[in-house]
Amino acid sequence: MCNSVWIQFFFIIFLIIFHNFQASTFAFDEDRLIRIKFKVHIINGLSSNENPLIIHCYSNDDDLGEHTLWMNNEFKFRFGNHVWRLTHFWCVMRCGLNKKTIDVFRSGVETKTCRRTGNCFWSAREEGFYFSNDNQSWVKRYDWF
Ligand SMILES: *[C@@H]1O[C@H](CO)[C@@H](O)[C@H](O)[C@H]1NC(C)=O
Repeated sequence: MCNSVWIQFFFIIFLIIFHNFQASTFAFDEDRLIRIKFKVHIINGLSSNENPLIIHCYSNDDDLGEHTLWMNNEFKFRFGNHVWRLTHFWCVMRCGLNKKTIDVFRSGVETKTCRRTGNCFWSAREEGFYFSNDNQSWVKRYDWF
């Protein structure tokens, strides 16, 4: 009789600990646990071919090389998001005399904004850099200057 009370007591303690452990594990970074693969698209959205868009993208581990994009061309890359480390990709964009470095994928930012589709689209236009996660609705994120 006495034993079974103790067993119930420990069982309840166990349940409380287990429940809290689970809750904290899944609250840790929900979006990173859910989606692992992402694709980033860089698009030349300029309205003329007077100057091409020249891009050079990097991460802490990778140099994705220099690419020349003419009107409507895109450069894309895919990667597995690090679950235990932060992921960061950035691109140096040049067009004529203009030059700008922008972050195209950061853990905690694009992991959330691109999660639904698994795609991040960046369109470089005369007026600045536009972001979309579906290649349809665009929001301006950065200026050239
Ligand atoms: C994005 O949209 C453009 C214009 O509608 C289309 O040409 C292109 O193929 C699309 N790209 C992707 C990856 O869906």
